[in-house]
Amino acid sequence: MKQNLGPKAAIFPMPVLMIGTYDENGKVDVMNAAWGMECGSNMLALCLTSTHKTSKNLRANKACTVALADLPHMKEADFFGIASGNTMEDKFERTGLTAVKSERVNAPVIEEFPLTMECELVSEVNDESGLHVFVVRVVNTLAEDRILKEDGKVCPHRLNALIFNEFRAKYFVLGEKVGDAWGAGKELL
Ligand SMILES: Cc1cc2nc3c(=O)[nH]c(=O)nc-3n(C[C@H](O)[C@H](O)[C@H](O)COP(=O)(O)O)c2cc1C
Repeated sequence: MKQNLGPKAAIFPMPVLMIGTYDENGKVDVMNAAWGMECGSNMLALCLTSTHKTSKNLRANKACTVALADLPHMKEADFFGIASGNTMEDKFERTGLTAVKSERVNAPVIEEFPLTMECELVSEVNDESGLHVFVVRVVNTLAEDRILKEDGKVCPHRLNALIFNEFRAKYFVLGEKVGDAWGAGKELL
């Protein structure tokens, strides 16, 4: 038996992305975005409301950073999703986090987040359906040593990234590994 939930987008899990930008005066802003995903090996699609300070900054500088929020910074990450740089002059400063300029794009790298993608704006897609997507290209990804395994790959457990549960507006963290992708289904080949 299945229940009808109506026309509800129902992807789980969703990410907790921290989008870092500068305004035209070099002021740092960071926003929380769950409606964002990879759309290529070095491309991201970010669904951002057009009037957010972040959207204006992205248009002005054609660049942003996209970090994964981790558990130790849940309070700051959530705050970045409920306060706006449009109305709060010291939004970023209130968190006490540290920003340094990316060496590759005109956007801030937030030191405390362990994994950060440095991105340049490729296009802004806007149509009458209400769709509003910024497509950005990842030009480099920065990872703290402590989240890398001996083979240089990111360890999801060390990363400790937050996961967004849209159904109940809750944050989760990773559970256990249960199988291999491109492997668990092989016996049906
Ligand atoms: C968990 C969470 C996820 C969010 N995801 C998005 C999103 O994907 N797109 C969006 O436009 N706003 C999203 N928001 C809302 C923005 O983060 C919020 O409006 C923020 O104040 C915008 O900041 P800014 O105006 O400084 O850019 C989210 C908020 C939370 C708490």
